[in-house]
Amino acid sequence: MTQIADIRFDAIDTEALADITGLLAVLIGEGGKMNAAARRVNTLTRKALTRAIESEAFAKAKPGDVTRLSFPAGLAADAVLIVKTDPKPDQTSARRIGAQLAKAQGKHPLSILLGKAARAEDIALGLALRAYNFTDHKTDKGDGPGPVTFLVDDAEATAKLAAPGMAIAEGVFFTRDLTNAPANVLTTDDFAARLAAMQELGLEVEILEEDDLKKLGMGALLAVGQGSASPSKVVVMQWNGGGDEAPFALVGKGVVFDTGGISLKPGANMEDMTMDMGGAGVVAGVMRTLALRKAKANVVGLVGIVENMPSSTAYRPGDVLTSMKGDTIEVVNTDAEGRLVLADVLWYAQDRFKPTGMINLATLTGAMLVALGHENAGVFSNSDDLSAAFLKAAEAENEGAWRMPMAKAYDKMIDSHIADMKNSGGRLAGSITAAQFLKRFVKDDMPWCHLDIAGVASIKSETALAPKGATGWGVMALNRLIADRYEQ
Ligand code: BES
Ligand code: MN
Ligand code: ZN
Repeated sequence: MTQIADIRFDAIDTEALADITGLLAVLIGEGGKMNAAARRVNTLTRKALTRAIESEAFAKAKPGDVTRLSFPAGLAADAVLIVKTDPKPDQTSARRIGAQLAKAQGKHPLSILLGKAARAEDIALGLALRAYNFTDHKTDKGDGPGPVTFLVDDAEATAKLAAPGMAIAEGVFFTRDLTNAPANVLTTDDFAARLAAMQELGLEVEILEEDDLKKLGMGALLAVGQGSASPSKVVVMQWNGGGDEAPFALVGKGVVFDTGGISLKPGANMEDMTMDMGGAGVVAGVMRTLALRKAKANVVGLVGIVENMPSSTAYRPGDVLTSMKGDTIEVVNTDAEGRLVLADVLWYAQDRFKPTGMINLATLTGAMLVALGHENAGVFSNSDDLSAAFLKAAEAENEGAWRMPMAKAYDKMIDSHIADMKNSGGRLAGSITAAQFLKRFVKDDMPWCHLDIAGVASIKSETALAPKGATGWGVMALNRLIADRYEQ
């Protein structure tokens, strides 16, 4: 797994600043006000900081921007990084400061002179998240991020504040690694093995194999995987950190590769479909974070892991499937496979765990990208209460999410002449009819949200807290939702 940067918290010693090697970062507010440590650096460098702060470049810089003073006389450090900050940075701006420092730092050791500046934990989280670099398949793996030392007034208290953030960063890295992994490496077997390895963290992990799924009657999920040489699976991850109350359930689409099946996708950009297990990746990342921070909640994560391939054993357009629920489904497009996988896992989650609520995540429809681009995931729900709580958590974590409509009129679009429903309603309102399909597998009194993350799971340009590629979108929001709703 990609390791998070080595981040420590030490007491600040103003007398020792001249001897620090590597990079030295100071945070300077709009007015150019310096804390005691920055003033000491300023004296040692014969007022280099004052000159930089009074420069036109600094005046033009935005909060979070870094000005670099290379090889400063008077210091052992190779450079001083001057970070412009808001007078009172909020959480988002503090994380951005951390992210900008990670980009400026590269492989060099970095010491950040914070003193008693607030939000050290957010700066640390932003730094950890942005320092991600996926090198599993590079022969030259480089050096990885250099060590980071936050020099603060109260090292112990700050380290304690920052610890949950480090659990989040590890969960996000786990999600990103899974989502970035190519399909010849992240096979269904490999995926399940990576999840099983989380037993070390105190999670209970079960792998249901094809025979088990057949016995359970998961005819929809099994149909999707039947054209692949890789066996289909459902993996159940339980974190029981709460009392004896029923768990909250997270369900993920884990299509390790989506060719479209017999309704084959066009060749252009088909390689992007290695990320079609992104929903399952987020579920896994959240479970990892909950275990690492020993969350006081009961949460069960269930993922359906399959590969959608065309072959002589593949399911075909026109096939009629029987789901675990018992409802029959006419396949009109084998590329609308994610909803077939989720239908059975959603039903199994409710049948076995009787959860208090349920959220599923899936890279479900290309139409989601058309509607909301890369900025927001679509939120579809039968519960104003649960969807509002999720949207609030997503906003607090600066992860874009937007509620989409659901209604009976859309539901009619997936009625079938020969079965109970068909698996696609066509082009119009494609994301909504997919959500309506899932809703048919959610019990009436079950609070439920479907998050269509097709546009946010993996992006071809960098974002505030991630390099290009998998983002880990949703791990922070779901972790917060669980903390706010179930750990109070
Ligand atoms: N995995 C795709 C959706 C997708 C597309 C995710 C682009 C990320 C980026 C999904 O299985 C799919 O193929 N959906 C079809 C549904 C259609 C056949 C009803 C789609 O969106 O075209
Ligand atoms: Mn598909
Ligand atoms: Zn898919």
